Amino acid sequence: NKRTPGIFRQLSQDNMRLTLCLPNLACRDRLVRTPTVIMMVGLPARGKTYIARKLARYLHWTGIQTKVFNVGDYRRDAVKGYAGKEFFDPDNTEAVAIRNLCAQHALEDMCNYLQNEGEVAIFDATNTSRERRRTVYNHCVEACYFRVFFVESICDSEEVIQANIREVKLKSPDYKGVLDTVAVEDFLSRIELYAKQYEPIDDKNDEKDYSFIKIFNCGERFLVHKTRGNIQSRVIYFLMNIHVLPRTIYLTRHGESEKNVQQRIGGNAPLSEAGKVYAEALAEYIENEKLSDLIVWTSQRQQTIDTAAKIYAPKEQWKALNGINAGIFEGLTYREVAERYPEEFAARDRSKYYYRYPGGESYHDLIARLEPVIMELERAENLLVICHQAVARCILAYFLDKDAERLPYIKVPLHTVIKLTPMAYGCMMESIPLSVEAVNTYRSKPKNCDPNRAVAEALNEFVELRIEPITGPTTTQIIYENSGTAIETTDAFGNRIKRLDSVTSDTILNNSFSSVHDSL
Ligand code: ADP
Ligand code: F6P
Ligand code: PEP
Repeated sequence: NKRTPGIFRQLSQDNMRLTLCLPNLACRDRLVRTPTVIMMVGLPARGKTYIARKLARYLHWTGIQTKVFNVGDYRRDAVKGYAGKEFFDPDNTEAVAIRNLCAQHALEDMCNYLQNEGEVAIFDATNTSRERRRTVYNHCVEACYFRVFFVESICDSEEVIQANIREVKLKSPDYKGVLDTVAVEDFLSRIELYAKQYEPIDDKNDEKDYSFIKIFNCGERFLVHKTRGNIQSRVIYFLMNIHVLPRTIYLTRHGESEKNVQQRIGGNAPLSEAGKVYAEALAEYIENEKLSDLIVWTSQRQQTIDTAAKIYAPKEQWKALNGINAGIFEGLTYREVAERYPEEFAARDRSKYYYRYPGGESYHDLIARLEPVIMELERAENLLVICHQAVARCILAYFLDKDAERLPYIKVPLHTVIKLTPMAYGCMMESIPLSVEAVNTYRSKPKNCDPNRAVAEALNEFVELRIEPITGPTTTQIIYENSGTAIETTDAFGNRIKRLDSVTSDTILNNSFSSVHDSL
C-alpha cells in the first residue's frame, strides 16, 4: 500500500501496467463508440481550463457524458498551502514527484470514469512535456482502447496573458490572502519555469501520428491534424467558433399572446394587450442599454416577430427558434390534453425531456434543432434572442449547465428579460422582470404521474388564467462550472484518500436563485 512518488515515471517505463485500467470486456464492448480523452496542452494562463469547461458544458448539453479532470485540483488537494513558484521548478525533484503522482491519480480517475458511465473525459493539465503526453497517451490508447485528441493552446500576446492572470489566477486558491502584485509576479515566474521545459506538440516527427488541434492566439489561427471520428470533428467545429470578446446575451420569451391567455399550447398567435405593452417596455429597456451593435433574433412565429417590432436594431428570423411542436395537441389546453389523452399527459410527466408529442417534438429533439443556434450564438457578440418557453429553457440549460431532468422545469416567466454575461469560468445571469403583468404558463412536475389519476391532480397546482403581476427584484447570480470539491474515495492501492471530483454549477448555486428558477 506504500505510495511511491516516482511511480508515474516508473509506470511510464513499464508501459503503464496499472491494475485499475487493464483492458476488459466492458472496454472492448464499447469499441462501437470509443470513449474519447481530450488532453489539454499549453503553458499556464493559455485558457486550457476555460476551454475544457466550456467544451464539457457544450458536449454535456448535446447529451454526451463528459467530465473535466483538472490536475491542478488534485495537486491543491494533495499539497495544502501553496508554497510558491519553486514548486513548479523542473529541478525540484520532490515537487516533480508529487506533481507526477497527482497526474497519475487524475489519470486513474479519468480511466475509471470512461470505463463506466463516461463518454468524453478532458485531461486538464499543462502536459507540456513530450514524455508526459506519451505516458498518458500510451496508457489511454494501448491499455484502455480509448481515443486521444490533443487541444494545444499557444498564445504569445503579453496583453492576453496579463489579462488572463488578472481575471482568473488571482482568484485561485493558490493565491488566497496574497497581494495581487506578489501573486502576478509569482505566476509569471511559474510560467517561466514551465517555459524552460515546454515542448509544443511536434507535428513533424515524434508526435506526428497524434490527432490534435493547435489554437494560436485565442483562435486567430488553427492547425488541425489527423482527426478521427464524429466527436473530434464536433469538438474542432466548436473550438473554431468560440471567442473571448466580452458580450451580453439577452434572452426573453415573446410578449404574452392570445393563446397564452387562453392557456393554449403551441402555434402562431397575435400578442394580447399585455403582450403589446411588453413589446413597448422591451424596446425601451433595450434602448436604455445603449448597445450600438446589438442584433435581434426571433423565431418565425408572429408573437416573437411582433415582440421585436419596436426595437431599433437589425433582426433575423430563425425557424430553429420556433416553439416546441406539440403535434396533434397543438392549440389544446393542458386541461384538454389531461382529459382526452390521460396516458399521453402522464407519459410526459414521467419523462418530460424525452417525451415526444405524437406528430411533434420532445425537448431532446429541440436540443438537436437548436445546436446550430448555439453555435451561431457562440460566434455572435451582443444579442437579443426572443423565443418561446421550451426553447428558452434549452438555451438557458446550455449556459447554466442544467441536466436533462431539470431542463424542462426551468422557470422562464413571461415579460422578463434574462441577461447572460459569459465570464472566465462561468456566466453571470440577471433576471429583469419588466413589470408588465402576464399569465402564468408554468406547470411543475406533479407527484403523481399515474395515467389513472384524477384530472385535477394531473393539472397539479397549475391554475388556469392566473394573472401574476411580476414585480420581483432583479436576481443576480454567478455560475461557476465544474469547480472542484473534495470527496472520499479509494486510490489504485486501496488507500482511503480525499480526492477531487468535478461538480456542476448546481452544487454551488445560491439557494435563493435555485428556488426561483428551478422547481424540481
Ligand atoms: P490555463 O488553464 O491555461 O492556466 P485558464 O483557463 O485558467 O488558463 O485561463 C482563463 C482565461 O483564458 C480566460 O480569461 C479566457 O478569456 C482566456 N482564454 C480563453 N481561451 C483562450 C485562448 N485560446 N488563448 C488564450 N487565452 C484564452
Ligand atoms: O404555454 C406556452 C408554451 O410556450 C407552449 O406553446 C408550449 O407548448 C409550452 O409553453 C412549453 O412548455 P412545457 O414544455 O412546460 O409544456
Ligand atoms: C498544476 O499543478 O496546477 C498543474 C496544472 O499541474 P501540471 O503542470 O503538472 O500538469
